[in-house]
Amino acid sequence: MPSAAAPPSALPLDAQGILELAARSMFHLFSSISQGMFLVDRDARIVWVNEGYRRFLPDLGFSSIDQFLGHLVEEVIPNTQMRRVLETGEPILIDLLTNKAGTFVVSRIPLRDEAGQVIGAIGIVLFDHPETTLQPLISKFAMLQRELDDARRELASQRSNPLYAQRRAKHTFASFVGTSPAATEIKRQARRAAQSSSPVLLLGETGTGKELLAHAIHAASPRAHGPFVGINIAAVPDTLLEAEFFGVAPGAYTGADRKGRDGKFRLAHGGTLFLDEIGDMPLAVQAKLLRALQEGEIEPLGSNRLQPFDARVIAATSRDLAALVREGRFREDLYYRLNVLPLRVPPLRERRSDIPALVEVLGEDIALRAGTAQPEPTPDALALLAGQHWRGNIRELRNVLEQAAMRSDTQQLDAAQLAEVLRASGVAQLAPAAPPPEAAPLPADLLRPLGEQVAELERRAIAAALAATGGNKLATARLLGISRATLYGRLENPDQ
Ligand SMILES: Nc1ncnc2c1ncn2[C@@H]1O[C@H](COP(=O)(O)OP(=O)(O)OP(=O)(O)O)[C@@H](O)[C@H]1O
Ligand SMILES: [Mg+2]
Repeated sequence: MPSAAAPPSALPLDAQGILELAARSMFHLFSSISQGMFLVDRDARIVWVNEGYRRFLPDLGFSSIDQFLGHLVEEVIPNTQMRRVLETGEPILIDLLTNKAGTFVVSRIPLRDEAGQVIGAIGIVLFDHPETTLQPLISKFAMLQRELDDARRELASQRSNPLYAQRRAKHTFASFVGTSPAATEIKRQARRAAQSSSPVLLLGETGTGKELLAHAIHAASPRAHGPFVGINIAAVPDTLLEAEFFGVAPGAYTGADRKGRDGKFRLAHGGTLFLDEIGDMPLAVQAKLLRALQEGEIEPLGSNRLQPFDARVIAATSRDLAALVREGRFREDLYYRLNVLPLRVPPLRERRSDIPALVEVLGEDIALRAGTAQPEPTPDALALLAGQHWRGNIRELRNVLEQAAMRSDTQQLDAAQLAEVLRASGVAQLAPAAPPPEAAPLPADLLRPLGEQVAELERRAIAAALAATGGNKLATARLLGISRATLYGRLENPDQ
């Protein structure tokens, strides 16, 4: 039985020996519990890499340790802080490092010789994939960071002009994701429109990004330093629209509005006024809006004085404005006044090649807001998304991704999971054929017997639908809008 007065260990340990043993134990401990370690010499050259670290090499662009050794650390590990440790002699006990190989929780410790001189440093990867291991902490941190950014922005805009608080553009052209020919073209037109001071009319289906573009046009215009003021006409009761637009003179009303109130035209002074859902404007207000635009002056309710205004107008609608004019529900003269620079924002199905990039960006945003890992659709799932009609466009795509991510236990989203969400949402349907190519196909491709081309298209559509439904023939037939018998017929004899 051990007693307090146990005999001293038989090992001849002096203080130096204990230190060395402790150092060695620590080294082995870190080596076994960490994901990887490496050493640099005093010149910051990599001199040693442990077994665990090998697996990061391919992501850093190296196929062997020999290639990796001997390099200056910053040449081979982007964003590393090892040199700082060598220079200051101070450890960085815990830090997040992000580079092309991923995000890691790392530790960096200087190594000293007996005289206390720094002779190198040790880098330790404590965790890789911190997004899973440290998820709760990171999402909380991301949330706090977002709140801080918002608060800072708000404060900055209040400082520069109290009237403009929260009246800055929220998006720039960089927020408009897409490199398809249709997306590139609309961005080109919108950039040109930003340079002009004429009214812009944004036309396009719901959820195509009209509001986003209105912000971006403002942000790229010479008025970017002025306010961006939006009004959603469909959301304001008809009886209040006039006051919203033109404001109310002091004393015009008793009660809350006694002191008078600025209208949106006035608030947008020096900036941009965004008239959203313009197609929903009642005829009586249309007349007043027209007069304001023609004269460049507004008349607040209850006032008999005209005030000049200086706001660039951007209007948007998902309705067919020309048809409303024909039906007598929208004034023709107002239509022409707004329709100076019409921009037709393309629906998602005309730019299907943007879907992967949109999925990436929307997924990132969904994950950030929910504090979860970013959804990762499989190639089949992406193909399924590319085949949809997308009546609600990018907003609908976002909803589908959000719902699928919520239902899924894993980060990965496969085609079957997405098909389920699409079915449940009820509005989307698979296009009957593969998406039409956006770039003109090579003529040689088309100069073949039509029957052969149609058969090939059918085979591709069937293969895609089978993949999307996990091989379920009934679901495949439904997705393609054909009977099960026809599907079996095609599968048995694909050339008929
Ligand atoms: N090209 C794009 N890249 C990234 N996000 C986009 C893009 N276009 C639209 N979005 C996003 O999709 C959503 C819908 O866009 P927005 O509100 O601008 O559409 P809208 O055309 O004004 O629709 P509605 O007519 O229904 O008002 C927003 O969350 C927006 O940020
Ligand atoms: Mg809108």
